[in-house]
Amino acid sequence: MRIEIITTIPQMIEAVASESILGRARKRGLIEVSAVNLRDFTSDRHRTTDDAPFGGGPGMVMKPEPVFAAVESLVSRGAGSKPRILLMTPQGRRFDQKFAEELSGESHVIIICGRYEGVDERIREHLATDEVSIGDYVLTGGELASLVILDAVSRLIPGVLGDETSPETDSFSSGLLEYPQYTRPADFRGLKAPEVLLSGNHAEVAKWRRVEALKRTLQRRPDLLESAPLSDEDRRLLREFETETS
Ligand code: ADE
Repeated sequence: MRIEIITTIPQMIEAVASESILGRARKRGLIEVSAVNLRDFTSDRHRTTDDAPFGGGPGMVMKPEPVFAAVESLVSRGAGSKPRILLMTPQGRRFDQKFAEELSGESHVIIICGRYEGVDERIREHLATDEVSIGDYVLTGGELASLVILDAVSRLIPGVLGDETSPETDSFSSGLLEYPQYTRPADFRGLKAPEVLLSGNHAEVAKWRRVEALKRTLQRRPDLLESAPLSDEDRRLLREFETETS
């Protein structure tokens, strides 16, 4: 998978994408990540990427020419691939695990980091295939948001995480929050790990984990239960917890 991030601050992308799991995945050729400097696609002496808004008002607006030129150059190098072109903006579709899964199936993704003051509307209307927000708050630019997308999508690509099965047990992938985890020591300052997890009985462990995932989701994110795939036994357990706590 190829992910290209268009930004005026490429060093911000490199700083994150060169480290840890992402850095290793790049070295192993599992993901191809490029930070593309928007200024390389300007044509004036000052390498200008923004300008004052027509009609007046505060702030600066991202100019269309360099962004169109950058995207067109990346698309033409993509040898016929039809990339998803994401514009990072707080006005976009809210990013979630389902969206990450959808993007992880793409072969080429281009991300445009917008600036928070504004982006020329023609970029939204005629260039981006998706406008994406990582949450209801405003960042100074799209760089951190693009890194969130990069991280969440990369870890779904086979081989990126050491343990192939782990993304499926994540919070959200199963539609439920994750069950609690414990590791050694079994007794930490008198705080004991649940006995069942030390029992070696895999069926009992699996049952305990399902119950805990259901309980945790009911307590913290009951909204997720509306769309989570639940068995009859899950529903029976949920009714039981509800009567216990009411
Ligand atoms: N740019 C500024 N704020 C943002 C947000 N919440 N999501 C995506 N891009 C942004």
